[in-house]
Amino acid sequence: MAQPQRKILVTSALPYANGSIHLGHMLEHIQTDIWVRFQKLRGNLCTAVCADDAHGTAIMIKAEQNGITPEQLIDGVREEHMADFKDFGIGYDNYYSTHSPENREFAELIYKACRDNGKIAVRSITQAYDPEKEMFLADRFIKGTCPKCKAEDQYGDNCEVCSATYTPMEMINPRSVYSGATPVEKSSDHYFFKLPEFQEFLQQWTRSGTLQDQVANKLAEWLDSGLQEWDISRDAPYFGFEIPDAPGKYFYVWLDAPIGYMASFKNLCDRTEGLEFDEYWNKDSKAELYHFIGKDIINFHALFWPAMLDCAGFRTPTAVNAHGYVTVDGEKMSKSRGTFIKARTYLNHLDPQYLRYYFAAKLNSRVDDIDLNLGDFVQRVNSDVVGKVVNIASRTASFINKKFDGQLQPTPAQETMIQEFVDAGDLIAELYETREYGKAMREIMRLADIANTYIADEEPWVKAKNEETLPQVQEICTVALNMFAILATYLKPVLPGMVADAEAFLNKELTWDNRSELLFGKTVNKFQALMARIEAPQIEAMIEEGKTEAAAEAQAKEQAAPTEETELSKEPIADEISFDDFAKVDLRIAKIAKAEHVEKANKLLKLTLDLGGETRTVFSGIKSAYKPEDLEGKLTIMVANLAPRKMKFGLSEGMVLAAGPGGEEIYLLEPHEGAKPGQRVM
Ligand code: MSP
Ligand code: ZN
Repeated sequence: MAQPQRKILVTSALPYANGSIHLGHMLEHIQTDIWVRFQKLRGNLCTAVCADDAHGTAIMIKAEQNGITPEQLIDGVREEHMADFKDFGIGYDNYYSTHSPENREFAELIYKACRDNGKIAVRSITQAYDPEKEMFLADRFIKGTCPKCKAEDQYGDNCEVCSATYTPMEMINPRSVYSGATPVEKSSDHYFFKLPEFQEFLQQWTRSGTLQDQVANKLAEWLDSGLQEWDISRDAPYFGFEIPDAPGKYFYVWLDAPIGYMASFKNLCDRTEGLEFDEYWNKDSKAELYHFIGKDIINFHALFWPAMLDCAGFRTPTAVNAHGYVTVDGEKMSKSRGTFIKARTYLNHLDPQYLRYYFAAKLNSRVDDIDLNLGDFVQRVNSDVVGKVVNIASRTASFINKKFDGQLQPTPAQETMIQEFVDAGDLIAELYETREYGKAMREIMRLADIANTYIADEEPWVKAKNEETLPQVQEICTVALNMFAILATYLKPVLPGMVADAEAFLNKELTWDNRSELLFGKTVNKFQALMARIEAPQIEAMIEEGKTEAAAEAQAKEQAAPTEETELSKEPIADEISFDDFAKVDLRIAKIAKAEHVEKANKLLKLTLDLGGETRTVFSGIKSAYKPEDLEGKLTIMVANLAPRKMKFGLSEGMVLAAGPGGEEIYLLEPHEGAKPGQRVM
């Protein structure tokens, strides 16, 4: 039954323009795309927009490192992102950029409205500043030694080793990752959005059915503990939009990022007959607006964004739909394991529809993480899509083609069974609508099982061999293809490519509403294989490529990071110590009796050191520079009285001395000829 047509605008979070699309992103775009395709299939006027998030320090710096302008960088990345989405069958009506005239206009408009409503405060704050690079440094652009546990090379806000939190200025030896310079404190005026003044509005908005329960509960905690003003400005140099009344001040990337949803839609409206921007964004809009996002960016979408929209006189979202994170084989995606898989790497080996189906089968309306278990992935896709659904057509189509010249039986048959398939569409629609895709897939597979049982019981391949029973074959296959057509309709949002081929074969454009128009008496075209099974070697090849890629990236990074090297070669001489302090260090000549790889260790070699009678085991981070066999028999210098340290791989009883910036450039110290193992170094 036809529903009244809804007007719906849907967005996915805008990917940053400084990196490639990976399978984590793809979960979101697939979840969105399935929902959008479903709405379109139902006959609703559904528009989906996205864009690249093009502003911010990271993009500015990356462009500088690559020796290009930020504009060149973001243009290139946008091309790449658009190709990735297109090849995954993601059909945005517009894929734009936040670095656009429309976005500047809306950002200024919304900012000015907030300012004129008295919701912007200006005050001076003190921050770390790189005096060489002449720019302010966010905490993650400062590295140094943890003031608590003394772990080196930690970020400016917290220590990954002991979890201590601190300010960059509390670190030991803090340095700018850009220049290696020691940051200084400097103050400047910042612009703040007065979020606390929206407390009441947000209490109400977040409880009005706009959010998932899990999300609303989490936000209630924040709302109860009080909101903070939000810093929306950054000082030059910054790649973004200058704030209208504040020269040298730029909108923080997260201010204009969600406004990019409006800008992308406006850009589309301006070239689409009948699509009116105001109809979707006016305060009293009857259209629906949905944002699909990941769980890490909820506060931006469910606090700042609705508050800003409300303040500037626009409508707020109908709902914000958050999803969880993708893990691979139960663990966070990892470059070294090859599971940080880029969209393009996947596409080099596998049909995108496999992943679309797998994610659909695992998705629900909650914020839970989604595990891409590679073994389960192969098994599930092969058994459900190929083994159940496609199989219905491939077991029956050829008889219709070969024995009946493409003619389906004219008289209807098995109407009750087929009606069950048609009726199930109401439940399946409800499940798609509420983002319970996993349940929808299970319902579809339940029907596929019924169809396959019917075919197996009727054995058309047996009946086709006998002139007398041959007419029955036309009926069986016609019934089966009718069931297949209905299931293909239900899967069209998930498997657009496969279903397009099925439509070509069936001679019918499948829509939700015309699923009850059965195919008895119709002609079908020549059947072509719809989808192949996944073979395990394809997965292995993809993971291998992921690993190779990650290794190449790591190496390029090392080479392209002169900051790190200069930082080390410029390492200042440490504080003065007394002779007594020095005399406490017992340095000895040691002979490397044995050198071995340590299983699962990326950096370490295990050394067995001979001190002229006594032996010591030392784990040393020199694997990137030495092959074990080249070390055996060599003399070096070790700290012999260092307190033994328990490491993940065993007890380390000392330390060998080496110099160099790291990577391949690590040089073990070696005494001149004549020195003997065990001798003291003074
Ligand atoms: N640019 C911001 C979003 C601005 S929206 C106005 C951003 N970009 S992002 O590229 O880091 O992430 C884009 C989306 O991908 C986010 O919704 C994020 O949650 C999602 N994901 C990124 N990694 C992910 C996984 N590993 N798994 C699932 N989704 C994840 O944030
Ligand atoms: Zn620490």
